[in-house]
Amino acid sequence: MKLHKESDISCSSAAESYLIEKMNEIKIFSPATVANVSCGFDVMGFCLDSVGDEMVVRKVETKGIKITNIEGFDLPYEAKKNVAGVSALAMYDALDLDFGFEIEIYKKIKPGSGIGSSAASAVGSVFGMNELLNRPFNKTQLTGFAMKGEALASKCEHADNLAPAIFGGFALVKSVSPLQILEIPSPEDLYATIIHPQIEVKTSESRGLLPKEVALQDAITQWANFGSLIHGLHTSDYEVIQNALHDVIVEPHRSKLIPHFKEVKETAIQAGALGSGISGSGPSIFSLCKGIESAEKVKEAIEAIYSKTGIEYDMHVSKINTEGIKIIQ
Ligand code: HSE
Repeated sequence: MKLHKESDISCSSAAESYLIEKMNEIKIFSPATVANVSCGFDVMGFCLDSVGDEMVVRKVETKGIKITNIEGFDLPYEAKKNVAGVSALAMYDALDLDFGFEIEIYKKIKPGSGIGSSAASAVGSVFGMNELLNRPFNKTQLTGFAMKGEALASKCEHADNLAPAIFGGFALVKSVSPLQILEIPSPEDLYATIIHPQIEVKTSESRGLLPKEVALQDAITQWANFGSLIHGLHTSDYEVIQNALHDVIVEPHRSKLIPHFKEVKETAIQAGALGSGISGSGPSIFSLCKGIESAEKVKEAIEAIYSKTGIEYDMHVSKINTEGIKIIQ
């Protein structure tokens, strides 16, 4: 387990640094993520590799941040109203630069899907700028800038999608103020199956449903499960992970927003998933599985029931992405 500190600046070789200094434009894959992971509301998330946005970040002579192209979904071009723009401005304002950046967003993750659409936009811009500047900031600092963008979308500063998108794998947000992130190991054979029913659930509204207080007995159950999940991930003990994937605090309230949630969850578990729950604030539902065959079997079982509901949906099977956000060009 590793606590990232300010001194933990990503290193690049001299040759890499030279190349980055000469580069004016990069293309990035900004991954989708699953937040909460059942028992870790607001503090835990993991990174996917089969779904994510692409973004281009370009260094330009004109000062400031400008969004020059958005494809895939209808989102604001004004930087102050766009998640990627807000996080970029937070980072830009912390620097004193005599040039600016342009951002292009090729959005593949539907906003309001529950697999970290706003987080992917928020981290993409700051990651890209940081690379073009030869990495003045570490990953925790980038997460901090991205939180400003995430707050625009969800009306609160949480980092449980941002941290896994930036660090890869499973990430635990120990604290947001000061921001402390712990990287948690991913067992080799762990896969996720995601169903995304094509309805929109706004994170801000789905947070509004949650009670302000919880019963002590529920809190005890939840932190016992969460501690067990962390232990299971560290020791690659799939049985411990399986027994930990329960949420007695948030899921009972939010599951009402997701059509056929109970049926999907039961089907996934019967088909062999270790556990299943709401991905972030929904409507996506994730299942964690041991091995790709199991993840594909769970996908088929869920499809068999969801294809009869008349609700359009997407499905993804993904290994846990331990690399996180990356340059693709
Ligand atoms: N932890 C956040 C929530 C994640 O559940 O509201 C939102 O994707």
